[in-house]
Amino acid sequence: MKSIYLVGFMGSGKTSVAEYLQKELGWGLQDTDQMIVDQYEMTIPTIFAEKGETEFRNYETNMLHTTTTENTIIATGGGIIEKDENRQWLKNQGNVIFLQTSWEEIGRRLQHDSSRPIWNNQSRDKQKLLEDRTPKYLEVASYVIQTDNKTEEQIAAEIISNI
Ligand code: S3P
Repeated sequence: MKSIYLVGFMGSGKTSVAEYLQKELGWGLQDTDQMIVDQYEMTIPTIFAEKGETEFRNYETNMLHTTTTENTIIATGGGIIEKDENRQWLKNQGNVIFLQTSWEEIGRRLQHDSSRPIWNNQSRDKQKLLEDRTPKYLEVASYVIQTDNKTEEQIAAEIISNI
């Protein structure tokens, strides 16, 4: 079967839902952020600090193209939809699930987070970023799931019954 790509904002639960799906379906599991860390041997904050966001987006685009397009769950980084070419690529894959989470819930989940450079950049307006990105997630999505008040297990079950 075609791979399942999970897209959504930081804190929407892509990584943990991907792990549940992997267990349920027995498929492979890939995470574009983890693939970047493994390949470039740098943490995401170090890449942002030393190479900059533009270069990170290039790495991310390269990784997206190397993901396995069958029988694999792929958790993507929250900004994967920023580039037109990535949106086009995702639309061609088909099984793209948008985990849609409210701004309030994201704030609760990430209140103690220190691992995400964009979230921790005080000069970025994250709420505006969520608003700007939402139409882009919707554009690529073949299915949208509201994640507020749902467990990862419930979300995974909903995905399985809709692919
Ligand atoms: C980013 C989200 C992060 C990571 C990087 C940039 C973003 O992934 O790719 O910090 O631009 O939203 P998660 O969505 O897994 O936090």
